[in-house]
Amino acid sequence: MADTHTPEPNRRGGRLILLTALVAGVAAAGITALLVNIFERQQEARNPFFRVVEITDESDDPAVWGRNFPFQYDQYRKTVDQVRTRYGGSEAMLRTPTEADPRSIVAQSRLEEDPRLRTMWAGYAFSKDFREERGHAYMLEDQTFTERQDFVKQPGACLNCHASTYVAMMRAGNGDLQAGFEKINQMPFFEARKGVEHPVSCIDCHDPQDMQLRITRPAFMAGIRAVKAAEGVENFDVNRDATRQEMRAYVCGQCHVEYYFAGPEKRLTFPWADRAPQCDRNDDRAQFGPSVRGGAAGETERTERRRRGPQAPGRFGGGQGLGLSVIRSSGSWKVCAAGCAAAWGSDRDSRHTRQRSVTDIARV
Ligand code: HEC
Ligand code: HEC
Ligand code: HEC
Repeated sequence: MADTHTPEPNRRGGRLILLTALVAGVAAAGITALLVNIFERQQEARNPFFRVVEITDESDDPAVWGRNFPFQYDQYRKTVDQVRTRYGGSEAMLRTPTEADPRSIVAQSRLEEDPRLRTMWAGYAFSKDFREERGHAYMLEDQTFTERQDFVKQPGACLNCHASTYVAMMRAGNGDLQAGFEKINQMPFFEARKGVEHPVSCIDCHDPQDMQLRITRPAFMAGIRAVKAAEGVENFDVNRDATRQEMRAYVCGQCHVEYYFAGPEKRLTFPWADRAPQCDRNDDRAQFGPSVRGGAAGETERTERRRRGPQAPGRFGGGQGLGLSVIRSSGSWKVCAAGCAAAWGSDRDSRHTRQRSVTDIARV
């Protein structure tokens, strides 16, 4: 009887072997699964998104990027919306397209809102046409078709902030961005216009290899180098030295800033050499002297707008009406609402500005 309860030693051994094999098998399968998983994750890390198409340093068409990033592309396309929200925005005004200007929708005219501006700005391009700004989708056509173009011969430098210019500059400079920038600035607007096709696009803010933010505008590179030098940081290379947080503000600061065109070469320049805040009344005279006093009308949009009274309060409100502008105040970058820009113009003391600065850029 005892035999029935006690298995034979070799049968017991057989079971042990079986069990061991089983455990080993399961362990091996587990380890294999883990290794496969690690490998997959490594591959994923190498390809952080699903690459449907290859994007290169030549791809300035946002629709191509959109195949890899459909969600962000949808967001990008929303800039065609023209509805007022509590953050601002603009209303769509219907217009009958003409051969000279095929736009069927424009933003409302500030000159019609306040006809006194026509009188006040008589003789200047802005007395012809000055509208509410609207979404990024329209930047290139609004610049191309503004009647200010008929009034003054505008330079290619205008395009820096109204088109996807990265690829165009690289081409014009045979791979040298700075050289391409210098070249395009000096061209007549409509000649330079032939080299660009899209409004600001993914490639103007993102590196196509890894999607990292990057600065593509030489005027910003030079401007921010000057700012940092004034703060004691030598040879600041924005794409090498800026923090991720800074880059989030800087990419917008490539365009939403004060500017002028320096010299006959029409070099787009951000006057950030050594002061904060930069828009102090006297500094402004000094830095903008030639164009404010004697420059050709329309030479620099902002400089003109600055001298023009109510729509640009205190002459300095380059960001006026923007709903948003990126500025530097007491060493840090801020996004400001229009109210803040107004404060800049009217108050030489930056205290005022600081109080009114809306949001630290980091939180936008
Ligand atoms: C390449 C230059 C450029 C860059 C970079 C740029 N903008 Fe703009 N932005 C413009 C121009 C030009 C307009 C006005 C377009 C028009 O009115 O046709 C504009 C308009 C706007 C408007 C007004 C929209 C409206 O309906 O009134 C907002 C808000 C804005 N930009 C925010 C930003 C933010 C935030 C960033 C950074 C993520 C940024 N922009 C980067 C050039 C630029
Ligand atoms: C440093 C960047 C920058 C440069 C250079 C620039 N713009 Fe703009 N432009 C903007 C921004 C930002 C806006 C939107 C906010 C605003 O209206 O101030 C804008 C708005 C506009 C608008 C729409 C609103 C309006 O004023 O009717 C037109 C048209 C325009 N610019 C034409 C031009 C022309 C022409 C030039 C060349 C003389 C030029 N821009 C150069 C940044 C720039
Ligand atoms: C004016 C600058 C600008 C342009 C143009 C732009 N981006 Fe971005 N993008 C940003 C910024 C700023 C961030 C946030 C980066 C961060 O968090 O550090 C971002 C983040 C992203 C991210 C990361 C995920 C996310 O949603 O935060 C993706 C993907 C992306 N953008 C795709 C695109 C694509 C595709 C386009 C063109 C259709 C585009 N971007 C155009 C500035 C821009």
